Amino acid sequence: MDVKERMLELTKILNQANYDYHTLDQPTISDYDYDHYLKELVELEAKYPEFKAIDSPTEKIGGVVLSGFEKVTHTKPMMSLSNVFSADELKEFDERILKVVSNYHYVTELKIDGLAVSLTYEKGLFVRAATRGNGLVGEDVTQNVMTIKSLPLKLTEPIDIIVRGEIYMPHKSFKKLNEQRLSNDEPLFQNPRNAAAGTIRQLDSKVVAERNLDLFTYTIVDDKNYVDTQKEALEYLKKLGFKVNPNYHLIDDIDHLIQQIEAYDAFRKTLPYDTDGVVIKINEFDLYERIGYTSKFPKWATAYKFKAEQVETILKDITFQIGRTGVVTPVAELEPVFISGSTVARATLHNEDYVLAKDIRIGDTVLVHKAGEIIPEVIEVVLDKRTNQKPFQMIESCPVCGEPLIRKPGEADHYCSNPDCPGKNINGLIHFSSRVAMDIDTLGEKVVETFHELGYLNSIPDIYKLKDFSDELKELPGFGDKKIDNLLTAIENSKSQTLDKLLFGLGIKHVGAKVAKILVKHYPSIDELKEATFEDLNAIPDIGEMIAQSIVNYFHDSKNLEMIEELKRFGLNMIFEKGEQIEHPFNNKTIVLTGKLQIFTRDQASDLIEKLGGKVSSSVSSKTDFVVAGEDAGSKLKKANELGVKVIDEQAFKVMVDGLY
Ligand code: IVH
Repeated sequence: MDVKERMLELTKILNQANYDYHTLDQPTISDYDYDHYLKELVELEAKYPEFKAIDSPTEKIGGVVLSGFEKVTHTKPMMSLSNVFSADELKEFDERILKVVSNYHYVTELKIDGLAVSLTYEKGLFVRAATRGNGLVGEDVTQNVMTIKSLPLKLTEPIDIIVRGEIYMPHKSFKKLNEQRLSNDEPLFQNPRNAAAGTIRQLDSKVVAERNLDLFTYTIVDDKNYVDTQKEALEYLKKLGFKVNPNYHLIDDIDHLIQQIEAYDAFRKTLPYDTDGVVIKINEFDLYERIGYTSKFPKWATAYKFKAEQVETILKDITFQIGRTGVVTPVAELEPVFISGSTVARATLHNEDYVLAKDIRIGDTVLVHKAGEIIPEVIEVVLDKRTNQKPFQMIESCPVCGEPLIRKPGEADHYCSNPDCPGKNINGLIHFSSRVAMDIDTLGEKVVETFHELGYLNSIPDIYKLKDFSDELKELPGFGDKKIDNLLTAIENSKSQTLDKLLFGLGIKHVGAKVAKILVKHYPSIDELKEATFEDLNAIPDIGEMIAQSIVNYFHDSKNLEMIEELKRFGLNMIFEKGEQIEHPFNNKTIVLTGKLQIFTRDQASDLIEKLGGKVSSSVSSKTDFVVAGEDAGSKLKKANELGVKVIDEQAFKVMVDGLY
């Protein structure tokens, strides 16, 4: 056998093995043999690339690194489905259909919890995969989808076809991935759907290949060209070599439909991947046009969403969290469990009365659900599983500052009695991220409050830990991927903010924006400032005793020093580069000096302007930003007034540059 034939043979063996294992779930050769054949083929392809088959299984290894994803316009929009949440709503759906047509069947399919993908084949060969995007335009993820082992690169028929399906991450892949991430100290994915979505947007397809995504197909675009019913479409997809979820059923009427859905709900928990409902489609394609579409959904299909789950887990500990108003709340620290699409490790216990009324104790087995599908909550204790847990006792002092807690008569909440409690004083966080300090766009008051209340933000360093929780944050109502991505980018960018902004942001008593600017001129790094003595500081013009003492006190507090070290580790800039411009109204401005100056010499004034990033010019024009007018200013002042250029006197100039010389 010559090389070419051997390569063809290996391609065939390996593709068949892939199909048997990944599509049919029926392995036919051992892993050992598979690895050997693959190795042999990889080596041959390296030597004889001209003989590499277009559907070579080595494509599944990945290795293409992209710089970004191209946009793809879908030939037919990728619609989504309406939802129903109960048997009654399902009956209403059926009644709406009955009004239009009479002879029909339903096909039920599991609703796979992943991300939709559109696959294009030309002459039976895989050419492109695109994400849903906004339904009209998606992203080209061909290289990544190519690594999915069950994806056929060549169909059994040489046809042009567009097929749609769901990419998902099986539980096994998800577990392996998170275990790896844990040992690498990387943030964990919240759920398989997020992991699949994050993986499909990886630029390096090798990473995708390693994560073992999978794919079920369920739709043929322009299906009527190929078959007449959804059941036939699923069967045809299988015949073409696609992986189709086997749990579909043809249903005669609404009563059977409801029965079938109940059966699915119990059954789905046994599956090795996530499902979040059942998709119900009319089987007969010739009825689709008559039943019609809304702008977003087909009216001939809907998704029945499963009810929120209740899951048992262990209550490992009860911790306490302080809110904005000083209310101290008990929080359940749980053995992490997967509930309704995400892993839950904490749940609110509301207040002392709630815990006592339900007699919730550390070590108990508890039932947890997601209130409104979002907020994790402990519903009750599984008393049968209680051993000898001790009854709950509310703490008496603040978990942050240690001052006594008080419970006002008639109220269920405990408050911290310390008006300056740092735990509740989130104003500091709001100030730190504000535009005048670190300028973390979008981390405004509301967001800080929300994150603080949910326990994500208690201190300045927590801001830089938010990225570890991005998957969780994206699930919060009102946030979503884009908002959180923007926020995390703004946080990342703030790390390079100038040192004076950081000093101001830290909220050191009496260190305002102006003092911070003076400080960095004298101490161009935080390490130097840290060592400054009271005398050193007090010797600086414009730094009085009060400010000097406050700075010394701040840097003598070990908690502050620890925090600064932590921020340093996060990569925040703590150095003021020589020549670095501090933000100032003179920055990039053209300034003209005129008349006799009393306080400064001309040279001093010019020097100052240049230090602050401005340019001194000798003549006034429409491009002039400021004219500094001393005594007896003449024609230049006149011209400035004519042109409407801003004029300031020397006193105002002094105020603007005060302390910066
Ligand atoms: S059919 C017109 N079938 O659910 C839309 N979708 O909420 C046709 N999904 O965007 C979709 N499993 O990502 C269909 N067996 C299935 C599905 C399924 C999961 C997803 C799909 C779709 C979303 C709709």
